[in-house]
Amino acid sequence: MDGNGRWAQAQGLERLKGHYEGAEALKRIVQASVELGIEYLTVYAFSTENWSRPVEEVKGLMFLLRHHLTAGLNDLMKNNIKLKVIGFLDKLELDLQEVINQAVNKTSQNTGLTFCIAFNYGGRAEIVEATKKIAEKIKSEELKIEALTEEVFAQHLLTRDLPDPDLFIRTSGVSRLSNYLLWQMAYTEMVFSNTHWPDFKKEDLIDAITQYQQRERRFGKIAS
Ligand code: IPE
Ligand code: MG
Repeated sequence: MDGNGRWAQAQGLERLKGHYEGAEALKRIVQASVELGIEYLTVYAFSTENWSRPVEEVKGLMFLLRHHLTAGLNDLMKNNIKLKVIGFLDKLELDLQEVINQAVNKTSQNTGLTFCIAFNYGGRAEIVEATKKIAEKIKSEELKIEALTEEVFAQHLLTRDLPDPDLFIRTSGVSRLSNYLLWQMAYTEMVFSNTHWPDFKKEDLIDAITQYQQRERRFGKIAS
């Protein structure tokens, strides 16, 4: 979800206003995903690198997560949405960890859209953490080196209970991954949109899905 800051600056507003509007856009896209019957939606809300932003902006992003997980919990329940949060959550303030755990637990039995927020998430750090866990298991002989497959490795990632993404969308005319789901996106189709995230609407989502549907996914094989 990129372009909140530029959206705000373009209209002479503070960057934080862009994040507020970005959160509203996210609510609309979650709703649209429910309506379209999408099974999994994962959004990148805060990266391990975003701590280097001005402290007021970091605080604002933390506030937004806290606020929407509290005020929006009823909507998640009403829409049968199962919430997940992936990232290094132990680095967040304790009360925010509490709010996250409550929302995740309350929605854990829901069976509709799985909505996953990547927060204080970083792909490289995730891979290093998985490697450490695996190394421990090998050291303690819980796991044999020969038994380490791609599937076993993936089971040590934060996304262990999510499928690899079919479609990746990045907004606001930026064409890079920025440390997002590095392992998981080996064969993901990518769509880049020029729209700033606060302006991203259901039609834009449908447009991205339409582009996806026109792609031929070969997974390294040749067309049949
Ligand atoms: C949102 O957009 C991404 C978040 C960290 C929430 P940006 O804050 O990156 O917006 P730009 O790139 O400065 O426009
Ligand atoms: Mg950005």
